Amino acid sequence: MNSKLREIDRMVIPKKHILKNIKYVYNQLPSIPSFEIVSFGPSTPNDQRIEPKKTTITGLKLQRASTNASQGLWLTKLALWTTQKMGGKINILEIGTCVGISGMYLLSGMSQLHGGRLISFEGDPTLANLAQKRMNEFIAKNQLTNVEFEIIIGSFDKTLKKYFDADSDILHLAFIDGNHRQEATLQYHEAVRNKIHKNGVIVHDDINWSPGMAQAWVHIQQVEGIGKTAELYLGNRASRGIVFLDAAPNSRVEIAHLDGWLERLARRVKFAIK
Ligand SMILES: C[S@@+](CC[C@H](N)C(=O)[O-])C[C@H]1O[C@@H](n2cnc3c(N)ncnc32)[C@H](O)[C@@H]1O
Repeated sequence: MNSKLREIDRMVIPKKHILKNIKYVYNQLPSIPSFEIVSFGPSTPNDQRIEPKKTTITGLKLQRASTNASQGLWLTKLALWTTQKMGGKINILEIGTCVGISGMYLLSGMSQLHGGRLISFEGDPTLANLAQKRMNEFIAKNQLTNVEFEIIIGSFDKTLKKYFDADSDILHLAFIDGNHRQEATLQYHEAVRNKIHKNGVIVHDDINWSPGMAQAWVHIQQVEGIGKTAELYLGNRASRGIVFLDAAPNSRVEIAHLDGWLERLARRVKFAIK
């Protein structure tokens, strides 16, 4: 682990019980009855579709699309670490709200120190409304008085363009987790780059979800400098990529494991049986 990953991993979360509340919401997701959404991004790694389409989503699929507890712990620590590093309130951008699980982890991290603001983007209005409700309840229940959030609804092509074109506040942390296409990922990275603090952090989810996503991540590493990047592993493959804009450019890519050795072993056995 490089020094930044180690620093983040060692962050002590004063109000840890908040994370249990998010895990509870996450665990309840499979019991949500199926409903219709407009699907914007590709739904499988080989999906070349550009046009949005109506589809039915189950609670289980919602859970699979959402941040799990080990990924969430890292998001919380990263948001806390960023507020500490910036020495005050921070602004976080999230591309891909879904039902608000990762948003809650980010809010929880900010709230542990100086607080800040989360702006999150989601295409489907039903998902965005579910997220809005859950995140409001989460803030009230846990008395997070120093954070606020806003969910912007609509296709990223329109909403993100408007956001990036506007003269909005500087970003400190960005979590890119929607529309997993190679070109879109590179475009979002570039656009975030123009809005983010020189010592900011950019996280990309699902960097190995498809060949296109893997290529996008390799490209980002080449452009940014490989030593500025780190990878979070789930099982035996990198699931999230992080760019630390102020890291030393010339070292090698560093990694951390999101799951413990026992979970890793279980995943390997499961993979071998398949
Ligand atoms: C993987 S989910 C986000 C999960 C969430 N960040 C979490 O970890 O809890 C991606 C979300 O992005 C939205 N999305 C994907 N492509 C989009 C697009 N082109 N425009 C608007 N929304 C999009 C989907 O509707 C979906 O809810």
